[in-house]
Amino acid sequence: MRRILGGILIASVVCLDAKETLKVLANQQDFTLGAAAGLTFFAVNQPYKDLLRQEYNTVVSEYQMKFGQLQPERGAYRWIASDSLVAFAEHNGMKVRGHCLVWHKEASFLATGTFTREEMLAILKEHIHEVVGRYRGKIPQWDVVNEAISNNPDSLYRDTFLFRTMGIDYIDSCFRWAREADPDVQLYYNEYWNEGLGPKSDKTFEFVKGLKERGVPIDGVGLQCHFRYDSLPSFADMDTNIKRLAGLGLQVAFTEVDYRIRPPATDSQLAIQKKDYQGTLEVCLANPNCRTFIIWGVADDYSSWIPSSYPGWGEALPFGKNFQPKPAYDGLWESLAARVPGVSIGKPPARKPAPAGHGYAPGLLYLGLWDLLGRREPVGGIIR
Ligand code: XIL
Repeated sequence: MRRILGGILIASVVCLDAKETLKVLANQQDFTLGAAAGLTFFAVNQPYKDLLRQEYNTVVSEYQMKFGQLQPERGAYRWIASDSLVAFAEHNGMKVRGHCLVWHKEASFLATGTFTREEMLAILKEHIHEVVGRYRGKIPQWDVVNEAISNNPDSLYRDTFLFRTMGIDYIDSCFRWAREADPDVQLYYNEYWNEGLGPKSDKTFEFVKGLKERGVPIDGVGLQCHFRYDSLPSFADMDTNIKRLAGLGLQVAFTEVDYRIRPPATDSQLAIQKKDYQGTLEVCLANPNCRTFIIWGVADDYSSWIPSSYPGWGEALPFGKNFQPKPAYDGLWESLAARVPGVSIGKPPARKPAPAGHGYAPGLLYLGLWDLLGRREPVGGIIR
């Protein structure tokens, strides 16, 4: 009997070593590790999808689950992209993290129309009920409201069309409507510059403390974590911040991690970037109320957001050109592996180089064709 048990133990260790990827290591400790998938995903770019399914247990829609994408015109919902992503996740043993129900950007007719407070509240209520209800039981976490706190030291709330039309208490209602649609989904408030300590983080803390005190059904706070590789909050401040949110009974998720560098990155910059990713993940793993770590993109050469939003910057992700792992990937792998008994800390599995993938245009074209053909099921060929 002892020999059989010994054999099983060795086999399991060998088996784990043989297949270890970030996803395997994260699953071994029930940790949510994911990446945001952009339009390239819909270009049927196999290496892009393979990396997602092999390395992460969660996928977030970078773009396609925002208000303006799901409801481009009032009452005319468009589910192809979001349904396809959910189908891909289900087919590949992954979860989908919902992002985001209400944001002052990418809000289509809601931002451009003229609505009374009551009309805008009714539109948001319907949107949230429709979207959260459609994915009830399929999406375990939603960013309900995104970026409502002001960056301006003289004001608490961001001066958006949402705030101006409805006043800030629309946020309480959004959480309550999401809870009505799904009693089990984890509901998050998502923000940036609330990662460490400082004015905006303090304002965010006070804001979510108010939500809790009013009995609003909020479960967690998202820390976006978009920074230059050489200037991010101290890990000690991140730790203090996560602990004070734990004191409110709130979960914390790192929701959009990327640490940008001015290309071409040098080895020393990549080494610092490794410390950035590894240190941030270590802070999360060290706190029981931090069980989610999402990276904002799949690979550097497919990241839309950094070069367009921070011209001259890029190389922000753990996978570089042609999906090759960078030192940042090794850092994530080492930190996760250190917490999985029996996994030898060694070089993560090398990824085979992938042919140059497709850009955004094919993704848009593919989705457009699907629309044109009046297809309503998930985009063909996307889920494998
Ligand atoms: C960005 C996407 O990455 C871009 O592709 C899109 O054009 C604009 O939005 N904070 C957020 C994310 O909460 O939704 C934003 O994502 C990046 C900043």
